[in-house]
Formats: sequence, structure tokens, C-alpha cells
Amino acid sequence: MRIDILTLFPNMFDTVFQESIIKRAQKLQKVEIYVHDFRNYSKDPHHKVDDTPYGGGAGMVLMCQPIFDCVNALKTENCKIILLTPSGGPYHQRVAYDLSKETHLIIICGHYEGFDERIRSLVNLEISIGDYVLTGGEIPAMVLVDSITRLLPGVINEKSHLEDSFNEHYLLDYPTYTKPRVYQDMAVPEILLSGDHKKIAKYRYSESVKKTRDLRPDLLEK
Ligand code: ADE
Repeated sequence: MRIDILTLFPNMFDTVFQESIIKRAQKLQKVEIYVHDFRNYSKDPHHKVDDTPYGGGAGMVLMCQPIFDCVNALKTENCKIILLTPSGGPYHQRVAYDLSKETHLIIICGHYEGFDERIRSLVNLEISIGDYVLTGGEIPAMVLVDSITRLLPGVINEKSHLEDSFNEHYLLDYPTYTKPRVYQDMAVPEILLSGDHKKIAKYRYSESVKKTRDLRPDLLEK
């Protein structure tokens, strides 16, 4: 998969994409990630990328030209163009799965007070990572890249995907434990030490349901 990210703050991505699983996925050539400063595409003599809103109002609005030119320079026949904005559709594991099947993603990070409405005509999908407003789309872009990259074949053990929270059953992960058997008077449940894999699977499923009912009852309704 190829991922192009359009941003005014390319340095924000430096460490995040150079660590852990995302670093390994790039090394294994499962994903190629390119971060573009769309200010470089501005035709304004001062490399301006935003201006005041027509009709008045506070703040600056991202202009069409730099983003249109940058997207047009990068787009391919089968690419999916995504705009990150708090008014986008909700991001879920299902959306991550669907996007992990694509071959080329172009992700536009909005910034400042907003963007010219005509930018929406460029995109296939508008995504919000939650009902809160961040200062820009950079952190949401990292969320997308991380959640999609780990789903690409050969990046992590595929059995782990099936056990993810928010898998197709909409259940949270079951609780896990490691050594020691007792820590500060808290003991590992006996059943996990029994070696009876059928019983352990049943126990884990019921713990998943219990945990979901306690922490995210809304998921059970799905
Ligand atoms: N930009 C600012 N806030 C955002 C959010 N919650 N999701 C996606 N992009 C954003």
C-alpha cells in the first residue's frame, strides 16, 4: 500500500513513523508512506496557503489551489482520497479494515479554522476520529496510518486481528495476564493455569462479554 499525507506540519510525523510496527512495515515494504508539505505547491509569491473567509468571520481558511495541485500531482487511477475533519463520518475498526484493502490512500490534514468548502469536491471520504476538535488533522492521520498498517497482510500475526477489540462481534478484548501468578495479592484466575483450552476459550468469551457490558454497553446493542 502507498499512503500520501498532505500537511503543513510534516515534521510532526518524523518519530511516529520511525518506530515500532509502522517502521517495520515500511522496512518489509508492506507500506510506503510519503509526507508532503502542501505549502510547497502554493503559487502565491509568499507561499500563502490560507486566507480570510468570504462573508466575514474569525480565523483563516485553507485555500483550494495548493491542495488541489498537490492532490492532482499525486493521484492515481485507484486511489482513495480522504479528508480529515471533525465533521467527517465516524472512524471505526470496520473503516480501518475496508481501507486496508486499498492500494493507494491520499490523506489530507485540515488545519486552522477550516478549509474552503470546494476542497470537499476532491475527496472520496471524510473522516472524524471522534467528537472533539483537534488543532489539525495530523494526529488523526497518524491514527489512520497506525490502525490500517497493522491490518496489512504480513505486518503482525493475523490471528491477533481476530482477537482485537471491536472485531466483528463488537466485543472488547478478554483480560490477559502474565508472570507472576500472584502480584500484590492479586492472583491470576485458576482456569488460565488449567491447560484446558476449551474451558479457557469459553471463560475468555464470557469475560469479554462481561467487560463489554461494564465498560461499553453501547457495543452490545450492535
Ligand atoms: N481535525 C480536527 N479535529 C479532528 C477530528 N476529531 N477528526 C479528524 N480530523 C480532525
